Amino acid sequence: MRVVFATAELSPVATVGGLAAAAAGLGAELRRAGIDVDLVMPDYGDVDLVDETTIELSVPEWVGAATIRVGIHPVAGRLHLVGVPGMARPHPYLQADGSGWVDNSERFFRFARAVAAFVEADPPDVLHLNDWHTGAVLAALESPPPTVVSIHNLAYQGVAGPEWLELIGPLAAHFEWWGDTNPLSGALALADRVVAVSPNYVTEITTPGGGFGLDGPLRQRGDALIGVLNGIDTDVWNPADNPHLVATFDTSSLSARTANRTALLARLGLPDDDTPLVTIVTRLTHQKGVDLITPLVPLLEQIPMRLGILGSGDAVLSGELHRLAAAHPNHLAFVDGYDESLSHQMFAGADAFLMPSRFEPCGLTQMQAMRYGAVPIVTAVGGLVDTVPDADLDTRRGVGFVAQRVESTDLLAAMFRAARRLKDKRRTAALQKRMMSIDWSWTGPAQTYVKLYRELVRGDS
Ligand code: ADP
Ligand code: GLC
Repeated sequence: MRVVFATAELSPVATVGGLAAAAAGLGAELRRAGIDVDLVMPDYGDVDLVDETTIELSVPEWVGAATIRVGIHPVAGRLHLVGVPGMARPHPYLQADGSGWVDNSERFFRFARAVAAFVEADPPDVLHLNDWHTGAVLAALESPPPTVVSIHNLAYQGVAGPEWLELIGPLAAHFEWWGDTNPLSGALALADRVVAVSPNYVTEITTPGGGFGLDGPLRQRGDALIGVLNGIDTDVWNPADNPHLVATFDTSSLSARTANRTALLARLGLPDDDTPLVTIVTRLTHQKGVDLITPLVPLLEQIPMRLGILGSGDAVLSGELHRLAAAHPNHLAFVDGYDESLSHQMFAGADAFLMPSRFEPCGLTQMQAMRYGAVPIVTAVGGLVDTVPDADLDTRRGVGFVAQRVESTDLLAAMFRAARRLKDKRRTAALQKRMMSIDWSWTGPAQTYVKLYRELVRGDS
């Protein structure tokens, strides 16, 4: 079975958030399961492929010259890199000052139209689209192959002006959105199946509070909307075999975590004693709720906890974190940046991992943390509900501590509960063994997608 899998991000070629990891992880696992996957993504430039060939695409004049470079990438394997005017940039979406490229709509509508041309010229058994960047592919295909659209983050919809409705293709009417063009809304209406990246996210996005304006159309999809939880790459996120760690460990050698903890505290410049160390690894955006934690920093001494944050993004928030770290040097350390190697150490050396998200379609970091034995403290949103049962409420399955409301006070209460549990070394070790033994790999999710593809190819409705 051949699947065209189109995405704007793919690790390690172009990484902004979890979409990159999810696309790479699922793509690789589908290939292992015997699916012939064309990984189709924008050509942002500066990527060398081996055994390269070029496909010229036939596209409308407004798209400009569109080609695909096909070849082998040393990590990602066979790639299809779609080149359209304006696509090659140092960052997929953002200028150096953190604002979006002013022509992002043009760039991704061109990309989508080029992908549609590729699909028309060489139709696959299944077309799998991801997020708004790829949505408008369906505006151009009058007889598309069976199609799946995955929603990784409904907060981003790529809404553009009405002028695009004239250009994007014969099915453009489906993409009309309150007088504008919404590349995601049309795709959600036209796809055979819509997949949200966790079961609980399905529940949230079909309510007015969580649907970012699309809850109505999503409810209309009924059983065609399903939730499939993401996985993580358990070869990369492996505490037992890992080039980034001072000491490797597994469930039978948990004491080896101590060496990682000591090294991490030293790296963060925090005192090394029994006080629990909690870490955060995140993009600094409204979604991630780090601003709900800043008011709690003066209280860390009383909980007690020390907090280490690795994060990049919003300049106002990073300024605030720098100021707070200077004022509370024994309780808060802030590393401003995106650092994959340090992120492994932040999971392996921490006693607990904090994720104060306002919303979280799936979330990968809580799974990464659990794989490394860092006890998750999370809000009760999105995929965090599916992956982190509360250890005080569910003594059999519980793995973490959950703040029921997205508020600083509830997060504080969950941090208190975690600190109390961490004092009990025996019960903590049991909790760590339980969370480290959960299978977070892509094997199960990929099987679900293969089943879904087969149903669609068979024509089951
Ligand atoms: P989102 O996609 O919303 O940012 P996810 O939890 O799905 O959230 O995925 C984030 C991915 O990016 C994870 O693999 C995480 O380890 C990584 N990551 C996030 N922030 C950083 C950072 N500052 N440094 C290194 N890795 C990061
Ligand atoms: C988005 C979401 C995140 C999810 C990721 C991969 O970036 O914010 O929750 O894990 O996509 O699906």
